[in-house]
Amino acid sequence: MRNVTLLEIFTHPIAQKYLTRSGVAHAISVAYHALRLSKQFNVNPDLATKAALLHDIGHYEWYTDGQWDYEKYKKNDIHAIKGAERAHKLLIRLGENPQHAKEIALAILLHTDSYLPEGELQKRPLQTVVRLADEADEEPGGNHHYRHIDHHQAIKQIKRLDEKVEKTLKVTHFKRLG
Ligand SMILES: [Fe+2]
Repeated sequence: MRNVTLLEIFTHPIAQKYLTRSGVAHAISVAYHALRLSKQFNVNPDLATKAALLHDIGHYEWYTDGQWDYEKYKKNDIHAIKGAERAHKLLIRLGENPQHAKEIALAILLHTDSYLPEGELQKRPLQTVVRLADEADEEPGGNHHYRHIDHHQAIKQIKRLDEKVEKTLKVTHFKRLG
C-alpha cells in the first residue's frame, strides 16, 4: 500500500517550483530508469521512483552575469543535501510513511558524491539505484537539465509510472526498505 502517489508529489506546488528549475523531463526519465533498475536490484520501486523523481529538487542556479557558471556550481553546490531535506519535508506533508520518507531522503542525499569528501561509501541498493538511474539520463555539459517536456505529457507519464509501480507492488513483497 502506498500513502502517496507520484502524481500527488509531482503536482504539488513545491515540486512544480523546483522540478521546473532542474528539469521535469530529466526527473521523469530518471524515475523510469529507477523503476527498471529497482527490479534488477530487488528494491522497492515505490521508494526508488519517488527518490528518483525528486533527486534534483535541491538544485540552485549558479549564475555569473546571467550565465550558468559550471565552475561555481562544482565548487559550491550542495543540491543533494538541500534536495534530501526538501523532499523529506514535502513527503511528510503529503502523508508519506515516515520511514519511507527517511529512506527516500537518504537516497537523494547520496545520489551524487560531488560534494562529499573523498573515500568510498558503502551504499545500500536503493541509493545505488537512484545514482545509476541519474547517470543513465546524464548528457554532456548538464544538458539533461534543459530538455523540455509538455506539462500534459509529463502528467501522462507520471500516471503511467504510478500504475507500473502499483502493479509491481502487487506481485512482490519487499522486506528491505533501503
Ligand atoms: Fe540528476
